Amino acid sequence: MKGVILHGGVGTRLRPLTHTGPKQLIPVANKPISQYVLEDLVEAGVNEIAIVLGDIYPEKVKEYYGDGSKFGSKITYIIQDKPKGIAHAVGLCEKHVGNEPFVVYLGDNLIKGGIKSFVEDFKVSNHDTMILLCKVENPQRFGVAKFDENGKLISLVEKPKQPPSNYALTGIYFFKPVIFEMIEKLKPSWRGELEITEAIQLLLENGYNVGCQKVEGWWKDTGTPEDILEANRLILDELKPKIKGKIEDPNSIQGRVTIGENTTIKREALIRGPAIIGENTTIEENVYIGPYTSIGNNVTIKKGEIENSIIMDYCVIDVNDRIVDSIIAAHSKIISNPNNKPHGKRFILGERTYIEL
Ligand code: TTP
Repeated sequence: MKGVILHGGVGTRLRPLTHTGPKQLIPVANKPISQYVLEDLVEAGVNEIAIVLGDIYPEKVKEYYGDGSKFGSKITYIIQDKPKGIAHAVGLCEKHVGNEPFVVYLGDNLIKGGIKSFVEDFKVSNHDTMILLCKVENPQRFGVAKFDENGKLISLVEKPKQPPSNYALTGIYFFKPVIFEMIEKLKPSWRGELEITEAIQLLLENGYNVGCQKVEGWWKDTGTPEDILEANRLILDELKPKIKGKIEDPNSIQGRVTIGENTTIKREALIRGPAIIGENTTIEENVYIGPYTSIGNNVTIKKGEIENSIIMDYCVIDVNDRIVDSIIAAHSKIISNPNNKPHGKRFILGERTYIEL
């Protein structure tokens, strides 16, 4: 079985974070979201993988994953010039897939426990396609499944105002090559995209065997900043503590905390897990790092309190303040300078920055 990771899209809802890279490379618990996806595929025995790249810094994806060997996989890159839809992106993979069944995994989706059991089920099933569904509270945001009175899947509706069920279509799809025939028949939808839900709908209408399975654990589509923070919490909840750096006072660590090599936690600092701190980072005296925080590599936290947040590599934070529910991209600085004249807050911000004071 082959694999396809979709790594394109615009990521409008995640600006400004997506001004400097694709959203799938945003780190959650210090690892890019799409790396969890790649690892899930490899863990399920799917090693030959095509990554479909969009036009937002595709070279950063190539640089990170290379030929895939570091991750136990063989990666082929396929360029999607413009984000013309998930079905369009899948359609570009026909040559990569050949005559084999394949799994498509959206590069910004996360699922508890990976996909190994689903891959095994699909291999032995006679389904032409298998979709994974997950019960959600806001089905209006997703493709939604409609069932008949016997619980059989009869159709899929994209972002319905009146959802026929609470079961959303997750971003993990198992296909046989017949899907390419359906994609060829598609016309762009009202939003100008080739919709994968319509391609699956065509399979249903033409009598193909479309199976579905329900995801029992959590599934997260990380389209918005709130989703990213929630994904960070979900992953940190499963964190296995591992301390490698230098902890000046063991009392500084409470709960499940992971600390990378060459990181120093000065005395009088307090790290309350679940939390992860990367390598070569310094947490100075009296700093408080609260639950559900991920701090990257080469970060300096001189002063301040941080909770439920993601602080990426090379940031400097030195404020007499509490930072919560925040995502701070690499190389950012938040400092206080009481001697500034005229006195006041000073900002140098990128487009679409969000600040809540
Ligand atoms: P979306 O979340 O719909 O993509 P987007 O990046 O356009 O988001 P926004 O609304 O914030 O602008 O896409 C779901 C996943 O599919 C995501 O991982 C990106 C990927 N994708 C492609 O690879 N190619 C495409 O043409 C589209 C539309 C999405």
